[in-house]
Amino acid sequence: MANISILGLGAMGQALATRFLQQGHRLTVWNRTPDKAVPLLAKGAREVKSAKDAIAASDVTVMCVLDYAASAAVIDQAASALPGRTLVNLTNGTPAQARAMAERVTGLGAAYLDGGIMATPPMIGGEHALILYSGSKAAFDAHADALKDLGAANYLGTDAGLASLHDLALLSGMYGLFAGFFHASALVDSEGIPAGAFFKLLGPWMTAMMGELPGYAEKIDSGRHDKDVVSNLGMQAASLDNILTATREQGVATDLLDPMLDLFRKRDSAGFGHEDISGIFELIRRKSGK
Ligand SMILES: NC(=O)c1ccc[n+]([C@@H]2O[C@H](COP(=O)([O-])OP(=O)(O)OC[C@H]3O[C@@H](n4cnc5c(N)ncnc54)[C@H](OP(=O)(O)O)[C@@H]3O)[C@@H](O)[C@H]2O)c1
Repeated sequence: MANISILGLGAMGQALATRFLQQGHRLTVWNRTPDKAVPLLAKGAREVKSAKDAIAASDVTVMCVLDYAASAAVIDQAASALPGRTLVNLTNGTPAQARAMAERVTGLGAAYLDGGIMATPPMIGGEHALILYSGSKAAFDAHADALKDLGAANYLGTDAGLASLHDLALLSGMYGLFAGFFHASALVDSEGIPAGAFFKLLGPWMTAMMGELPGYAEKIDSGRHDKDVVSNLGMQAASLDNILTATREQGVATDLLDPMLDLFRKRDSAGFGHEDISGIFELIRRKSGK
């Protein structure tokens, strides 16, 4: 069993702490507002008065606070305890924030692992919990057994920004899916059809359309949007135009889908109407040299 410290006992920090205790680890906890540690003390956690004391108490410290401004504030208070320790920062942020934190923490003499939690607090320790990690490989290898108690642990590479990049990309896919769901539900709602009843049609349809994505991924990777086209972009631009016209006629807002039609039209006007819609990827990807 490991000696582990946790900095931050919000909804997620509580779940991480509870799981570590259930798995028999010796846990030291600290939270800016002390009363949040109370339920964990009864389960065997030890509370300390400062982030510095928490880092000093264990080889590995897991930090999970609101954002990187909060993470930086915690490190400001605890910097002198960091040499020789390992910090695993599971706070949500951007790749640039993770890289800057890695530089700062390693500069202070600690090993740094960044992480992205792909789970809600009740999912921690369950079969669907996934946590992405990047940064120090040695730190990941040394603490992988304990980290796996929280959920599947996927190490992505030594660049500390990779966990955040993958985390945010996965969430982007989720929000795109949610946007389609919200738009479709608003469209049927305009005729009094409940979202729950409509979902009996929408759910299987969206699942079937997921089957298109590996083919789009192949076209994106090869740059060949003209291969095996069965539903060309010009046709789909006309059909998305119909969707948005009907949306306005039904008195529903078009905000969620307007940007997609703009991209379809731009690509169509540039002469790629005969290719697949995966071609809009070329309009949004980072241009080389940047
Ligand atoms: N909840 C989820 O479903 C979920 C899922 C995946 C990832 N996450 C990520 O996990 C992280 C924590 O989320 P949460 O749900 O635990 O949030 P939360 O319940 O709002 O808790 C926020 C935590 O951050 C601390 N904090 C805020 N500002 C601070 C500062 N300046 N200095 C020190 N501590 C500070 C709070 O301390 P006080 O108690 O003193 O306010 C509290 O412990 C976030 O980055 C979030 O994006 C959450």
